[in-house]
Amino acid sequence: MKKLKLKNFIILFVIFLCIFFVIHITKELNEDKKKGNVFMTNQEKNSYKNIQYYNREYQSRYEQYKKQNSNLSIKDIVTRVNIGLDHSFYTHTKKTPFLNRDYILVNKYLYLDETYVPEQLESISTQYSRSGMKLVRTAKDAFENMAKAALDDGMKIIAMSSYRGYDYQVNLYNRYVTSDGVEAADTYSARPGFSEHQTGLCVDIYDGVVDYTNFEQSKSFHWMQENAHKYGFILRYPKDMEHITGYQYESWHYRYVGEKIATYIYKNNITFDEYYVQNLEK
Ligand code: DAL
Ligand code: ZN
Repeated sequence: MKKLKLKNFIILFVIFLCIFFVIHITKELNEDKKKGNVFMTNQEKNSYKNIQYYNREYQSRYEQYKKQNSNLSIKDIVTRVNIGLDHSFYTHTKKTPFLNRDYILVNKYLYLDETYVPEQLESISTQYSRSGMKLVRTAKDAFENMAKAALDDGMKIIAMSSYRGYDYQVNLYNRYVTSDGVEAADTYSARPGFSEHQTGLCVDIYDGVVDYTNFEQSKSFHWMQENAHKYGFILRYPKDMEHITGYQYESWHYRYVGEKIATYIYKNNITFDEYYVQNLEK
């Protein structure tokens, strides 16, 4: 009789334990859901960790972003979150590192101080620019070599805007905001401190004839498409990449990053923002 009582007690106790665990696990899962955490298998978790530029601190951001963008590969998820694209533009901004390097990145998350003026700014020969245009020496030399090579092939490449100081960008951006409003201005003009022009490593060009906004229709543009990377320049704001660069397509804006990086970006058809988080940030 006693034995039977003990057996019943043990069975009840085991049933109680099972119920307790089921309730506990369901509660945990619901809390995870509420927090936006996706329940992931170990295999899924490891697929993030296998990516070279995976950042352990961003794990929950990767999972959240994947939930909202289930069509993207894990590689794209990690790349985009590392750029900061899971946050709105101009939020969670940081001072950009690698000042005075060819591979400095300035975008809607990484900015330059108001006082930053790049070292070794030099004037571009007026044979290839409007007067008063400056670039950092390495970029200037590369630009002049490129413009000369284009000229040898019968194409004109003229710099019409290059280094722009912080204060210059303040006036330019404010002018655009006054005429078009903030939302529109943000699609084509950088806010002060966030313009790549302040690095002294980029240049807006035209063919000396057609307005720069129509540069895409010129022969010089096609020459640039085939040759710019050989001189270390990339098209910085390509077509259909607005969701990554934050800016509309600019066929006239070229950025000097050096031949090695420019050739990689050209061959792999990626943006500098993507290249940077995949290869340079760590
Ligand atoms: N137009 C480019 C994005 C700039 O303002 O720097
Ligand atoms: Zn530009």
